[in-house]
Order: sequence, then structure tokens, then C-alpha cells
Amino acid sequence: MVKVNELVDVAHGVQSKRVFWDQEVYEQELERVFGRCWLFLTHESLIPNFGDFVTAYMGEDKVIVVRQKDGEIKAFLNSCTHRGNQVCHADSGNAKAFTCSYHGWSFGADGSLAALPLEQSAYYGKFDKAGAGLREVAKVDSYRGFVFGCFDAAAPSLPDYLGEMGWYLDTWMDGTGGAELVGPPMKSILRCNWKVPAENFIGDGYHVGWTHAAAIKVLGGPLSGLAGNAEIPFDDAGLQVTSRHGHGFGVIWDGLGLIHDDPAYREYAYANLPALTEKMGPWRAKLYTGHWNAGIFPNCSYLYGTNTFKVWNPRGPNEIEVWTWTLVEKAMSPELKAEVVKQAIHSFGTAGTLESDDGENMETCTWSNRGPQTRKGVMNSQMGQINDGEHPELPGIIGKNFIGETSYRGFYRFWAEMMQAENWDAVRANDATWKDALIKGAAEAKAAERAA
Ligand code: FES
Ligand code: FE
Repeated sequence: MVKVNELVDVAHGVQSKRVFWDQEVYEQELERVFGRCWLFLTHESLIPNFGDFVTAYMGEDKVIVVRQKDGEIKAFLNSCTHRGNQVCHADSGNAKAFTCSYHGWSFGADGSLAALPLEQSAYYGKFDKAGAGLREVAKVDSYRGFVFGCFDAAAPSLPDYLGEMGWYLDTWMDGTGGAELVGPPMKSILRCNWKVPAENFIGDGYHVGWTHAAAIKVLGGPLSGLAGNAEIPFDDAGLQVTSRHGHGFGVIWDGLGLIHDDPAYREYAYANLPALTEKMGPWRAKLYTGHWNAGIFPNCSYLYGTNTFKVWNPRGPNEIEVWTWTLVEKAMSPELKAEVVKQAIHSFGTAGTLESDDGENMETCTWSNRGPQTRKGVMNSQMGQINDGEHPELPGIIGKNFIGETSYRGFYRFWAEMMQAENWDAVRANDATWKDALIKGAAEAKAAERAA
């Protein structure tokens, strides 16, 4: 078992480079992070009818996510209980049964083994079909239509897992009557560790003016002035949030639609503001017109305002399969939805201008830590720590600006907690104290500044 305490110093915002390249760390992640956390699967609108299904990954485990006769959604391991063949090879569709291509065992939409060839003659009519259904994922639930699954029956409920992040998510998941995803997801391979893009999306406002300098100049919107980091406004330009269970985001005030300089999107959003302020209060109204870079722990990320929605499916410690949907609000007109989809694909689709900039860094951040001597080093996420703290009106720990690493620190704090904890009871025992190390780090940074 990896001693995670030696890999992550929560109070000081430091992580070992082993977190990006280490087979032992990775195996422990599959069991303790992907085996126990809620993982994004699909959106309800993509499987509206009985028998509608999509296939997905939960860590390295393949699953089939199926709408049941009673409207419920269930998920099953996509592995035949006969000899382990993949039962469903399609990405999505409608099926009343999933029939294995190897020997023809056939499973119903509820995962039960419905029929098998030669049941009478080869098994003498004595085979126990009831005990040979597809293994069901312990928990499947949806939050505002976004469907998640969890292998651990002892995990908290999905609303409790999202916790205070749900309050923030409601801004765009519920503010105008709901959000949905446009699929099917684009899929691509990146040769990087899954945490590199996860940490980038959850908290990296810092790289935008640098990594994307050329792209944002070419896109020509109001953000093009940020190229080269020359004009980034720091004070009151936004904030960062980290919440219980490692979720978080950074927001640039009034940044929605800015990357593409999209007047139609901004007009739509600002027209919603009075009703949204009434429904959700002034803070979430302010958030609604912001541009968010965000993460739902562990491997689901999105940009609200550029409207890409992603899952980083791990394929070993140094490869991922990226799945990308477009995020739209149900209340948008079909024309606006189509425009948002187009822009999301141009920016963060597989061949998107900004996606390509990021991909290069994701891969080299991983491969540069391949060497054992390099892996003995540490990485720094101390930016903005001095201003981290609680806020009188906003839940979680708040960092003062959108350029900071508050949500990095929260992400790795919880990653370390999950990697170390024996079970969810041990995690629950920290519910009252999870902020302590983060606040201690901020206090120490302040004290060091005073002493200097
Ligand atoms: Fe599926 Fe044999 S492996 S029927
Ligand atoms: Fe980026």
C-alpha cells in the first residue's frame, strides 16, 4: 500500500511527482478512488426510453447503463458471466436484450440472464440462471438529470457526495429549468495521467493567458487581451472554490461566452438574469454569467461558458480516453444550442484549438516524470494560498481570485484522503474537520508574510 501521506502535503500545497506516473499509485486509485467514488456516466436525456442504453467506463471497468421498464436507470458490468466476453459492443442504442457474441448467453435490460443456448441438452436443464446475471453497479442516481454510478454500496448518497458543490451546480443545472448534454461524446486518446487534465480543469486559470496565448488571439474575443498574461486583471476578477469530496472550480466574473465573443449567448444569459436572481439569489446570479473551469471529483470536468463537458477515463497511469459532450441549457433555442455546440467543438472538441494546446502539456507533464529520479521531486500548488478561507455567504473554502490553486489543493487533499481511508466510514469521520489543513496552510502563509 502506498503511503499517501508521503505524496501529498496538504497544508503546504505540495505533491510528489509520483502522483503522475506510478503503477502502484494507479492500482490503488482504481480500488480506492474509482472503486468508491461516484463517477459520471451519462445524461438522462440521452437514454429517455425503456431499453435505451449507453456504454461507459467506471475507471477501467466497462459498464452498460440502461433505462429500465419502470423508468429507473441501472448499470451493469459489461462482462459476460460465462467466460467474461464483452457483452455489448455498441456505444449506444436501444435493446431489449444484450446477447454475448461468444456463446450466445442473452441478458435482459435488467441484467438478468434470460436465455442461454443448449440449456436443456448441454446443462441438462439444471443451470442456475438466477445467479448468473450481469453484476449490477451498487448505486446509480441522477442529479438534475446528470447520471452517476458508484461501486461502493457504503458510499454517501449522490446529493451528499456532491454536498456543497450541488449548491453551485444548481446555478446552471437548475437556474433556467435544467441543463443537458449533446451527445454522443467525442472520444480521443491522450497519453497522460488522468489527474493532469482533472487538476487543470478544476483550478488552472493561470495557464490560460500563456498556454492559449496564440489561440485566444486568433479567436479574437474580449479575452484576446489576456494573451501572454499581460492584461490579466487580478482584483475582484473572480474566485476559486473547493468543497468537501474534492470538487471545485474557478470562475471569471462576467466571462460567459467571452472566449468566442458570442453575443447571442450573452444576450440569452443576461435576459435570464432577473428571474434567476429571484430564484437563486444574487451570488448565483453573479456566478451564472461567469466563465467556470470546474471538476466533479474524481474525473469529470467541465467549462461552463465555453460549455464543454468531459470525462477523463484512465487507461493505466499514463494514458486516458477523453470523452467530450457539449453542455447546453434546455431553455436555449435550437439555433443557440447548435451555435453553442459548434463553438464547444471548435474550442474543446477532439481537434479544438484550445484542446490541442492543452493536450501537449498534459502529455509532457506525465512523461517528464517517467524517470525514477524525477519522480522523487515535488510539484507546487501554493498559488493564492495566503488568501484562502471561509466566506460568510459562499460554501466551501474560497480563494480570492480565479488565478490561484485553491481547488488544486482541495482536489489533492481529498484524493489523499480517499487513497488512505479504509472505507467510507473513515472518510465520514473527517466531515467536520476537512477544511482544517487547508485553513492551517493559509494561516501559515499569512504568518510567514508577517514575519518577512
Ligand atoms: Fe459470453 Fe460465453 S463468454 S456466452
Ligand atoms: Fe487550457
